[in-house]
Amino acid sequence: MERKTFYITTPIYYPSAKLHIGHSYTTVICDAIARYKRMQGYDVMYLTGTDEHGQKIQDKAAEAGVSPKEYVDGIVEGPGGVKDLWKLMDISYDRFIRTTDSYHIESCQKIFTQLYEQGDIYKSVYKGHYCKPCESFWTDSQLKDGKCPDCGREVYEAEEEAYFFRTGKYADRLLKLYEDVPDFIQPESRKNEMIAFIKQGLQDTCVSRTTVPWGIPVPFDPKHTMYVWVDALSNYITALGYGNSAYHDYDRYWPADIHMVGKEILRFHTILWPAMLMALDLPLPRRVFGHGWLLLDGGKMSKSKGNVVDPVVLCSRYGTDAVRYFLLREIPFGNDGNFSNEALIARINSDLANDLGNLLSRTVSMVEKYFAGTLPGPEGRTAGDYDDELRAVMAAMPGNTTRAMDSLQVSGALAEIFKGIQRANKYIDETAPWVLAKDEANRPRLAMVLYNLCEMLRYAATLLQPFMPATAPKMAAQLGLDTAALTYDALENAPAAYTVHKSEVLFPRIDAEKELAELQAAEEAARAAAAPAPAPAAQAEATALPIEHRPEISFDEFCKVEQRAAKVLACEAIPESKKLLKLTLFDGEKERTILSGIAKWYKPADLAGKTVVIAANLAPRPMLKGKYVSEGMVLAADTEDGGCRVLFLPDEVKPGAPIH
Ligand code: MSP
Repeated sequence: MERKTFYITTPIYYPSAKLHIGHSYTTVICDAIARYKRMQGYDVMYLTGTDEHGQKIQDKAAEAGVSPKEYVDGIVEGPGGVKDLWKLMDISYDRFIRTTDSYHIESCQKIFTQLYEQGDIYKSVYKGHYCKPCESFWTDSQLKDGKCPDCGREVYEAEEEAYFFRTGKYADRLLKLYEDVPDFIQPESRKNEMIAFIKQGLQDTCVSRTTVPWGIPVPFDPKHTMYVWVDALSNYITALGYGNSAYHDYDRYWPADIHMVGKEILRFHTILWPAMLMALDLPLPRRVFGHGWLLLDGGKMSKSKGNVVDPVVLCSRYGTDAVRYFLLREIPFGNDGNFSNEALIARINSDLANDLGNLLSRTVSMVEKYFAGTLPGPEGRTAGDYDDELRAVMAAMPGNTTRAMDSLQVSGALAEIFKGIQRANKYIDETAPWVLAKDEANRPRLAMVLYNLCEMLRYAATLLQPFMPATAPKMAAQLGLDTAALTYDALENAPAAYTVHKSEVLFPRIDAEKELAELQAAEEAARAAAAPAPAPAAQAEATALPIEHRPEISFDEFCKVEQRAAKVLACEAIPESKKLLKLTLFDGEKERTILSGIAKWYKPADLAGKTVVIAANLAPRPMLKGKYVSEGMVLAADTEDGGCRVLFLPDEVKPGAPIH
């Protein structure tokens, strides 16, 4: 019989900055759901990836002095990048899409062309308020106090030729969809927001730009690039091979069972995306879940607020499973939840060290102490008080957990498992095995009590696998069970006997006070390292910028960089980029072109005729989609206000003069 399929997606992340614990939230939740379905025997496709086009990325790359593609390659594939983070967080995605992948670009161009040819996309002029960081246009009524309603930043007036998608045409069909498929938008409360949004009059959606070169070109009008949402949303089908031949599982997995998204992008997923699919005459996703945010001190986590909590630091201090557990358990799904180090430590201590860890270590210790590690089979055991109640809780666990997972109550699912764990700890107190152990006549009863405890632990280990994938096998090993046997279907196959092996404590208790003090000290040290070094009296003018130390190199290595004086013959702005200036230089031998990310601080006239320092033997680099080739780099120093100053040389230094 063919297995049932299950397709779940996360939003694709903007690799414009380091991901924080809030980003890990969606990905860990989807991971737990995907693993749970796999455990139940589903054929699962779990898709995640990165959304790599747009102004923000273009700006960041220019700041870093690299091409956008080089920039995203580093931040997605490089050390400490997105893929490394998901490895650290034990994310079991089946596919990772990058919107710069050529197959995705090919599919998006086909989709855009089809929509244009059938009249669902048309050319017009866009007027509005544009928020650059959010890459969103807003109408007057949408602005909050004249600022971007999403991020609160300044917006600016913009008007440009653009292509539009006829979202408005689909308003009635969207409302009907929400009525016909009541589960389509979840949680329920957010559905009403979407209905209200449509009813106030659904505008068509601007789907192209002429001012952002870093995007997928509109094939029939290449001065336009696709506005990020058409590019981004299509990933859910292009990653399955829709419109390309890189993959072939569109028929197998589409429509998606769940699109999991943060509440601020629910609108794009429940209005624009289904409207696009309706236009393409494709089936619609089954459910879109808009989850709340993980907040820090009541505010949204964002680097700009200096509120980032580094998942790498947290995982290295407490272990990935503890961090996963916190994310999955602490926040009632759908609502916002607060993150704090105190709350994380409290959860680890109460649920993981006390409830789960103690149950395992007490049970295994008692089996070792009273039965030399091996419990007798059924004939050596006697039932007694409290057994039925414990077994009833245990028997209900899989059904209750599954029901909670099916309704995306991930925290509720964990609560069901921990209900069993807590009931078992109470059972130990009720049956007092250490009292039973005093009388040889009670051995059959003692064996039953310990067997029941092992059984509860087996249930817990099995059901916890999707949430804490590294902990469950450790539990299985201590219970003498084969991890491969911990399947959902095998839950009812009680082993005849248990042979246990005591091992390390699962979750050591954390001394909260000491830990919080250490965390604070570490944070202060990190802040101090990033802050200006105190200026010695004699150097009051010393730089306030953090010194960026690089590994020591030999003199020979230094000599490999050929630094040379070069005279700027001409300098011009380029239409494709607000960041870059194009310099034509004489380097002592020949003319060369260098693109430099200094347009924010210099006008072309500031550079013409000056002598500057260049790195002359850098490999030439194609930039702005290969339209220009930059042959080297102009050296400049950073300033405290985030700007830079080009190193100008005195007139007596002639072009070509070596600099060493
Ligand atoms: N690129 C778009 C998504 C396109 S999907 C076709 C995007 N990227 S993002 O990197 O800004 O955000 C990715 C996801 O992370 C979003 O669902 C967002 O809600 C989520 N989170 C970012 N910060 C978060 C918290 N502090 N808490 C919970 N989720 C958060 O949007």
